[in-house]
Amino acid sequence: MPATVIVGAQWGDEGKGKIVDLLARDSDLVCRYQGGPNAGHTIVVGDETYRIRQIPTGILRGKASAIGAGCVVDPAVLIAEIDELEARGIRTDGLVFVSGNAHLIMPWHVALDGARERRLGRLQIGTTRRGIGPAYADKATRIGIRVQDLVDPKILREKIELAAAEKNVWLERVYELGHFDADEVLTTLLEHAERIRPWIADTSLLVDRTLRDGRRVLFEGGQGTLLDLDHGTYPFVTSSSPIAAGAAVSFGIGPNRIDEVLGVAKAYVTRVGEGPFPSEIEGDAQARVRELGHEFGTVTGRERRCGWLDLVALRFAVRVNGITSLALTKLDVLSAFAEIPVCVRYLLPDGSETEEFPAHQSDFHHCRPVFETLRGWSEELGTNGLPAAAHDFVSFVERVLEAEVRLVGTGAARDRVLALR
Ligand code: GDP
Ligand code: IMO
Ligand code: MG
Repeated sequence: MPATVIVGAQWGDEGKGKIVDLLARDSDLVCRYQGGPNAGHTIVVGDETYRIRQIPTGILRGKASAIGAGCVVDPAVLIAEIDELEARGIRTDGLVFVSGNAHLIMPWHVALDGARERRLGRLQIGTTRRGIGPAYADKATRIGIRVQDLVDPKILREKIELAAAEKNVWLERVYELGHFDADEVLTTLLEHAERIRPWIADTSLLVDRTLRDGRRVLFEGGQGTLLDLDHGTYPFVTSSSPIAAGAAVSFGIGPNRIDEVLGVAKAYVTRVGEGPFPSEIEGDAQARVRELGHEFGTVTGRERRCGWLDLVALRFAVRVNGITSLALTKLDVLSAFAEIPVCVRYLLPDGSETEEFPAHQSDFHHCRPVFETLRGWSEELGTNGLPAAAHDFVSFVERVLEAEVRLVGTGAARDRVLALR
């Protein structure tokens, strides 16, 4: 399909990076549409493991890689990432495009993210502390600094002075922390600007032209549906729009230009950070799934909370994203279980049961999962078809969701994907 969105269908870390890497082979342009270095997309190539944070994963396949207006960019992280890729033999020259309208993560955003989380204490969101929330907040308040400001030192100075004056009051008086020196911040940013300048591009025009030329564009989501600012489990969400429609907003194309939406979901569920999680596994099995799936955060190293597959939440993801097909990753991790519970309904506080994701937060916070138990399999999942019980598992998911599973992940390595159709 000419324009395909790859979207996380759960709480992030579904294995989007690996699926993007696979489909990037047949694409001409790969576009990251939201978020920033809170993302960590892992691609395992032989003995090498790449943890991609800011640049689209397509860069590993030598594809043009664009960062859209809906992203927030930490200049130091982006430059370090490009340098690291180059040092590891990945060519990036002429392949990096960054929207001038994307916002910059400034050092005070990182400081404020950490300070707010500390202040919230047990009410904290559990952010990645990369400055994401404060950067998007400044964008919405219209005092953000954008990538295009980097090419105009006069404007950049004015904006930094204005922002620093305000942020320093917050940092010193509210959070009792040190302040930032506007001149020092400007000097560092001007150094970064020299590197970033050639990457700045009109990414809306780039996508439009690529599609008009009949070439293929892949949109790579960060985070996941349930972390969406509008449609996720607010306030335990990120500050951007990971849902598929976010791709059109970020790249300034009409939503009717998107042909396909591929949802990526694990065969179970993980969540990093705080917030309600109905299908979270009780007892020792949670630690077992965590160990088998190596469920530790790519960005922060934190333990990921593990749950059984939640088809109520996944049905919601199919709806809000317009998912046309699914990639079910990490099915191999479930090979260790003789029986596999799958959440098919929620029991609500009023005693009723629902297959639909609750619209009201209190229902979601207090619901209980209703599980159906599916038969497990013990065979290792290879690349040649699936054992009968694993096939039944996939068919069950398809039947309940009325969506087709196109790809199944059978291991972390780049080639451990089974195409079912
Ligand atoms: P992303 O943020 O959605 O790109 O996902 P992450 O890279 O943060 O987390 C997914 C983890 O699972 C990574 O460590 C991947 O290497 C790994 N992974 C991806 N697909 C599979 C799979 O099918 N099986 C196994 N065992 N691991 C996988
Ligand atoms: P990828 O792209 C999983 C979570 C954080 C926290 C919440 C808000 O690798 O799937 P933020 O720093 O964004 O303000 O944190 O969102 N979070 C992620 N969880 N995968 C991610 O990215 C995430 N990015 C943010 O743990 O709960
Ligand atoms: Mg990740």
